[in-house]
Amino acid sequence: MSAESEKEAAARAAAALVRDGMTVGLGTGSTVKHFVIALAERGLRNLRCVATSPATEEQARGLGLPVEEFDRLERLDIAVDGADQIAPDGWIVKGGGGAHTREKIVAAASNRFVVIADASKVVDALRAPIPLEILPYGATATLAALHPALPRDAPPSPDGGLIADFHGDVSDPDALAARLSAMPGIVDHGLFPPSLTSDVIIARGGEIERRAR
Ligand code: 5RP
Repeated sequence: MSAESEKEAAARAAAALVRDGMTVGLGTGSTVKHFVIALAERGLRNLRCVATSPATEEQARGLGLPVEEFDRLERLDIAVDGADQIAPDGWIVKGGGGAHTREKIVAAASNRFVVIADASKVVDALRAPIPLEILPYGATATLAALHPALPRDAPPSPDGGLIADFHGDVSDPDALAARLSAMPGIVDHGLFPPSLTSDVIIARGGEIERRAR
């Protein structure tokens, strides 16, 4: 089974978790594209969705899903998103598409945060790079303080943040996440702690593996 088929299978399993009337957070990336299609195909009439990127918003609207601004909702029932790395202890790296700040806000506001992935995303231990979003003001100083970190050749986030990557030691994600969160100038980073995720759905070959918190 190709990675693309695995992404679709994981996405379809997640779409089945959504019930009519729910508020739904839509992540970003190629796996989420399958989820948005699968969700739209369910034909649920009373969903309220928020999107973590303009690309997801455009796709969802194009398929008839109602997307609203995320300043009108306090909580979400469920959010579904992809991942770049999934470690055995539940730590996840996100932000391959530079959307991790919005993705983390949506995840934290969700009663159930579901991560969907093909089998290639499962790793024995997290490794660099760790995506960063950095405030443009003083970005050179912020990156220098983070050494080794490099700006990514990518457009700024929809909120104006510079997208960069931390290339240093990732062996203690808890300590690294705390360090990155405490650094002035970092808007957010792509380390998602196990406590943020309710379910991980991994498609491997024809099988679906489910990990629940
Ligand atoms: C975007 C993300 C994506 O969810 C992550 O990069 C996985 O992407 P894909 O589903 O295309 O492999 O975090 O910021």
